[in-house]
Amino acid sequence: MNPTKRRTVIAGNWKMNFTPAEAEAFIAEVTPLVAGKDNCDVVFCAPYVTIAAAMKAAEGTNIKIGAENVHFAPKGAYTGEVSAEMLKAIGVEYVIVGHSERRQYFAETDETVNLRTKAALEAGMKVILCLGEVKEERLSGITDEVVAMQTKLDLAGISAEQLKNVIIAYEPVWAIGTGLTATPDQAEETCGVIRSVLAKLYGEDVAETVTIQYGGSMNDANAAELLSKPNVDGGLIGGASLVAKKFAAIVDAAQ
Ligand code: 13P
Repeated sequence: MNPTKRRTVIAGNWKMNFTPAEAEAFIAEVTPLVAGKDNCDVVFCAPYVTIAAAMKAAEGTNIKIGAENVHFAPKGAYTGEVSAEMLKAIGVEYVIVGHSERRQYFAETDETVNLRTKAALEAGMKVILCLGEVKEERLSGITDEVVAMQTKLDLAGISAEQLKNVIIAYEPVWAIGTGLTATPDQAEETCGVIRSVLAKLYGEDVAETVTIQYGGSMNDANAAELLSKPNVDGGLIGGASLVAKKFAAIVDAAQ
């Protein structure tokens, strides 16, 4: 983290977990544990049907609620999708775009990730843009090239002004849900590569202000070490975001 230059953001990605009632109970449990922890922003991204209940439960707290995806078209014949205008209409502030599970299971490409990012930014939301290499790419020594390419393609056409509302989540796919975590040095190195690509695209000063999270089996036991790295500005947390005490311990590690 480098709190003098950029905001630390600890975000939970609930994925396909939590009914509205379960989310309410979870928010009630986690609220006192994260209250007053002002050195980071605290966000939970929820399934569409759970967002409204989570937002209501989080009213008056320091917890923000986001969505896990957004479509790029304003409206139309896209069965099963939700537009940025719809999310904005219910007050959603954050949205995850380009998660590897969307890329892997739902055929999302850098092109659609870019379109979704633009739609969310144009609607005034903050985007948590996910990218990262798969295991074979890391083993082949092409991680830097892969994340550089994703960064460039996913941010194509996005201005420096719009970039202020983009958080990048570096999530090595091999570390997601596997219990394998990138070492703090690996996380630092690749987050640094992403920042250097941002510097080429937008200039050093802008790049220094962008929050870059790490995600992939981050938990209460490894968060402090990962967050101690200067280019790791927070976490995007899956499994541990479903357990109030574990998530709160990660927020504590960011203080
Ligand atoms: P896990 O923390 O369960 O590995 O998931 C990480 C993730 O995919 C967050 O978006």
